[in-house]
Amino acid sequence: MKSVDSDRREFIRLAAAAAVFPLLAGCRDPAYAQSGDVLKSLRKNAISDAGCEWCGGRDVPDSVGPRAVLAEKSAAGERLLISGTVFGKDGKPAPNTLIYLYHTDANGLYGRGREHKHGKHRGWMLTDAKGHYEFETIRPASYPSSTIAAHIHMTVTTADQKEDWIDSILFEGDRFITKRERESRKGGFNPILTLERNAAGVYTGTRDIQLV
Ligand SMILES: [Fe+2]
Repeated sequence: MKSVDSDRREFIRLAAAAAVFPLLAGCRDPAYAQSGDVLKSLRKNAISDAGCEWCGGRDVPDSVGPRAVLAEKSAAGERLLISGTVFGKDGKPAPNTLIYLYHTDANGLYGRGREHKHGKHRGWMLTDAKGHYEFETIRPASYPSSTIAAHIHMTVTTADQKEDWIDSILFEGDRFITKRERESRKGGFNPILTLERNAAGVYTGTRDIQLV
């Protein structure tokens, strides 16, 4: 149990800190300061139907920001760093767009045991003032014994548009990519990424998105 003296010393320490750094207590990242209202609008437009197999915007955490990590550093698989910009109907960068992603592990599997049905590699991002987002993860794989290309599922939700899926991210060189996948442009731009390896050995790519 703490003594009265130690409580008093703790109070004095906190009071002194508040006097020296009066602005820190109320200092918040402007992007996060507005995210409460923004999230309220986005959650209204996230699909709440429990039977929806592909959606996940409804689970967005309060702490969402423009960057997400979908796989721990210890996760097996090649590291990926993917970034992009979301553009609105007017062609300008679209801030505060909610992006939800999920993909298999390096063996092509989702949701082992008690994991979420979308697996453990899932996450959310809210685009910043420049419409930018970025996430780090590991490279997924084709489903076992399948001819389905490795992919990262994506949905987008905005304050005035319901959650919808866009073309999954695919990887150039994957022999299972179909003609239909090559020609599809749901979400705009080319979802088939040509990866480049950076100095740190991480594969990087860009997936821009056009809202319609
Ligand atoms: Fe999938």
